[in-house]
Amino acid sequence: MLASSRHLCRDIVSWPIGKCDEDGHIFLGPFIYILPIMNTNAHFKVDPRLASLLGENYRSTELAIKELIDNAFDADASNVWIQLPQPLTLDPIVITDDGTGMTEAEVRHEYLNIASSRVSRKGERTRLKNRLVKGRKGIGKFAGLMVASLMEIHTVARERETRLRIFRDELIRAKNDLVQIDLPLVCEQCPGTPSGTEIILKGINQNFTFPNADKLKRLLVLEYGRQPGFNIYVDGELVDIEDIPGESFEHELQLRNGEKAQLRFTLSDGIKPLKQSGIALRVGGKIVGNPRYFGLEEHEEIPTKMLRRLYGELSADSLEQDVTADWGSVVDNSIILQEIEEQVRPLLEEACMELLQREMKWARARLKKRINGSFDRLPPHKKAHASKFFDKVLKKFYGESESRIANIVSVVLDAMEQNDYWLVMQHMAESRGQESAQVADAFSHFGLIDTALIAQQSAQRLAVLKDLEALIFHPDTTPAEIQKAMANNLWLMGPHYAMLAANPELQEVMNLYLNHKYSNGQAARRPNLLLTQDFNKRFLLIELKQPDHTLTLKDRRQAKTYIQDLNVYLPERQIDVVILGGALSSQLVGQRANTDVKMLSYKAMISEARVQLNWLIGELKKR
Ligand SMILES: Nc1ncnc2c1ncn2[C@@H]1O[C@H](COP(=O)(O)OP(=O)(O)OP(=O)(O)O)[C@@H](O)[C@H]1O
Ligand SMILES: [Mg+2]
Repeated sequence: MLASSRHLCRDIVSWPIGKCDEDGHIFLGPFIYILPIMNTNAHFKVDPRLASLLGENYRSTELAIKELIDNAFDADASNVWIQLPQPLTLDPIVITDDGTGMTEAEVRHEYLNIASSRVSRKGERTRLKNRLVKGRKGIGKFAGLMVASLMEIHTVARERETRLRIFRDELIRAKNDLVQIDLPLVCEQCPGTPSGTEIILKGINQNFTFPNADKLKRLLVLEYGRQPGFNIYVDGELVDIEDIPGESFEHELQLRNGEKAQLRFTLSDGIKPLKQSGIALRVGGKIVGNPRYFGLEEHEEIPTKMLRRLYGELSADSLEQDVTADWGSVVDNSIILQEIEEQVRPLLEEACMELLQREMKWARARLKKRINGSFDRLPPHKKAHASKFFDKVLKKFYGESESRIANIVSVVLDAMEQNDYWLVMQHMAESRGQESAQVADAFSHFGLIDTALIAQQSAQRLAVLKDLEALIFHPDTTPAEIQKAMANNLWLMGPHYAMLAANPELQEVMNLYLNHKYSNGQAARRPNLLLTQDFNKRFLLIELKQPDHTLTLKDRRQAKTYIQDLNVYLPERQIDVVILGGALSSQLVGQRANTDVKMLSYKAMISEARVQLNWLIGELKKR
């Protein structure tokens, strides 16, 4: 094993580590080399693309180390050991693999051939294990020098070891002229030593964060956790599913044939989906086919984004007979797999649902905080609906940003606050196509809300009546202003008139008539007339006089002329008139009801409206 040769190398080479140069780089001193069997110099071979490629940066020490693991993977290694330094020591980082290693020629022509694309040199797949090659650019090896001042390479191939050292400072000093750097290369026979490579990084760059084993493991498990035949050990510990941060579960399944299967999985923390989520099937130590979700992808409650956080393995050697020849899947009719699926699904479901509920609870609490009291302002009967709605939104938008969810929720809560019909209509829609009892229930609910809304509306009308009264009787208010205030509030004149509305076309007819009749200096006498229409297409003409104007027979006669005149514009239509003004003159007392001209004082109108509304509210309360 290479580790033994490593000790040998340490014995014969002395590295005075720890001196600092003026740039703050830890300087490792000149080459002090007790030459063993062969010592020649090697040089970098530089591709013109290098200058730009060397600018490559690694965001963290762990990412830089990962580059070297990628190289071990590409070298068809089965194992790679990473030894991290103990905090506050000058220990090196050591990365050892049992891959193919490099011959001296390979070191000279491939390793030192900077920026030469491995894929174009050797193809997409590795020679021994047919792995899809990670190396692309031919510069990954420099990642080591991003974190250390010195990189030693000890590599064994065909029972010959080649050793090489590269100093970061030399690279920096040489800038673009890397070809000029002398790289002493040492080669010796090492009979019986298996192939492999060891990279020793010394003088860890203090500007980088100290390498963290957990962080490195997390990074590596996501990339290599599913890779059969490639084990990574960090400080002696195998990188495994447990290195995924999150809640881990372990179950032993008892199969009917007396054998057992092991299920291990983690639901990762954080919303970020994993690269290769799902439960992988491991049979006889080998992964079979792609990871699966055991039918949970069809589950109504569990969002897909949550499944992307599921990472695990099911080891079931009992399936060996049922694995297809290419090891790509399990035969469709495997009874054992069916049995396993039946046991695994509820276990996964339970874990996912439990986590989902917990997360929803937190999310709901955070959401309520975010929407800042809108929920608390809702009346109690709406709160239950709003809570249901929260859950629906949180499920539908699971994994989306919380501010986006909060926006959706606040818009709907605002609407809810203002409109109960939204809820009843929702209820009605849900009952559609269901049993008649449920439809009847929804209707009854609708009626209740509808009545409640009428009561609410009546109370609000009662409240504004006072303001309207003050406006009408204010000495500065003109009849035109009263007309404007009343035009959209004809409920004031009683329930018969509640549905009346002044529409722009009708007002156009009115203006045509008034312009014609009161032209040429008659403008001062121009009356305030409001023409409205009900759903029976009956017209009602409202004349608004001054509130202190006493209504007389003359006003009634005048109104009759309006009807005659308007008949020219609206032929053969029934037109009723209401004249609003001050007190009624004695001539009018006892006027016949139901005539087409009605005289009414503003005061009577308002008090009548008040009586009506109070009665309605009283009646509705009795229900
Ligand atoms: N641990 C190793 N074992 C065997 N050969 C290696 C090892 N590390 C590097 N090499 C050889 O050195 C070459 C250069 O490595 P380097 O990481 O610089 O580039 P790369 O892996 O080809 O591409 P990338 O820049 O994308 O990593 C590799 O292509 C490989 O042939
Ligand atoms: Mg590489």
